[in-house]
Amino acid sequence: MVDEKAIEAAQKQYGELLRKQLERVERLKNEPDWTDYSKLDKLIIGVCGGDGIGPYICNDARKVLEFLLADKIAAGKVEVRNIDGLTIERRVEVMKAIPDDTMEELKKCHVILKGPTTTPKKGDPWPNIESANVAMRKELDLFANIRPVSVPELGINWRFFRENTEGSYAVGSNGINVTDDLAIDYCVATTQGTERILRAGFDYAKKSGANYVSVITKANIIKTTDGKFLNIAEKVAKDYPEVRWDDWFIDITTAKLLDPARRSAFRVFVLPNLYGDIITDEAAQIQGGVGTAGSANIGKRYAMFEAIHGSAPRMVDEGRAKYADPCSMIKAVAMMLEHIGEVEKARKLDMALDVCVQFEKRLVMTGRDTGATGEEFAKYVIETVQRPDLEKVWKDYVDAAAAKQQ
Ligand code: IPM
Ligand code: MG
Repeated sequence: MVDEKAIEAAQKQYGELLRKQLERVERLKNEPDWTDYSKLDKLIIGVCGGDGIGPYICNDARKVLEFLLADKIAAGKVEVRNIDGLTIERRVEVMKAIPDDTMEELKKCHVILKGPTTTPKKGDPWPNIESANVAMRKELDLFANIRPVSVPELGINWRFFRENTEGSYAVGSNGINVTDDLAIDYCVATTQGTERILRAGFDYAKKSGANYVSVITKANIIKTTDGKFLNIAEKVAKDYPEVRWDDWFIDITTAKLLDPARRSAFRVFVLPNLYGDIITDEAAQIQGGVGTAGSANIGKRYAMFEAIHGSAPRMVDEGRAKYADPCSMIKAVAMMLEHIGEVEKARKLDMALDVCVQFEKRLVMTGRDTGATGEEFAKYVIETVQRPDLEKVWKDYVDAAAAKQQ
């Protein structure tokens, strides 16, 4: 016997969900313009440590940030501000993904540096509240999740543009248990949301001279939402005649990232939320692990920069938090600098990270007392960024590594 009452209840929930998404579409139609950081009297950078190893690696990265922006901080053009309250304990206390007062403080900042936050899943000791990441991305409308991956000696220079507010994540905490036996989740694609992420990817491809975009879906199976993604890609691509583009399915793309004959050809990827989540971990692994990868969450008004990995509570439990690798957060700092217009400082920091992590390796992070502490590593990066011969050192290493590959 089909449970008609359960269907009715589910329809009601579904109706609510549709209403919220349609209201969102209306908001998207009236989006603010991009913030012009060069016009601000003072740029406010919020730093929230998060959970687990978050406060440790965030603090290490903050030192790098404050070193590189020291002149502007001294001149009162930049303020770096601590934002409390994004811990799992506090979130559970108020039973919210992000406590209201914390959200208010975040909204007073222009850009945010955020440590990893614990995301409870079913079965964890914490109540199953929504992820703070996902909530922040949605609340601040940080629609473009940009994740660069570069391995110069393998010829890899990728930039992922992951849609960050829709797809399977949009209502990921509001799926419906229709009955005990039937659970349904939803995948959301709006015209506005899809178009803006594609434009972000194509714009970057054009401005950076990469001139090549790969749009990744599973449109042969997920025909409606991924189909929409692909249709809009076709339309957007017409505005960028100089940018070559193609489309791939997510499954074969995960394989091709491991194919030395193909992978160095890829440059810019644009893809829906969940595929972007998965494949950027794979890409980061090729670069040296998720600990080496940073992530920019960009919206027109706000932007947030973070690691791509979680809060590693086990490292804290085992007393190893100070050995956690801060490079993902330092990479996030580089992305922040680039975003706020400090392009040269960002470039130098990226080079210094390559030299420290991939080439010179005077200090190595192992996650335990066999390696350096995060604090020591941050100091090493700060020293390296100041080397007058940094550019040459970097280039020599890249050339030597590339020669070895051949
Ligand atoms: C990421 C993370 C997050 C995500 C989690 C922590 C919610 O995996 O930033 O990739 O799934 O987006
Ligand atoms: Mg992820």
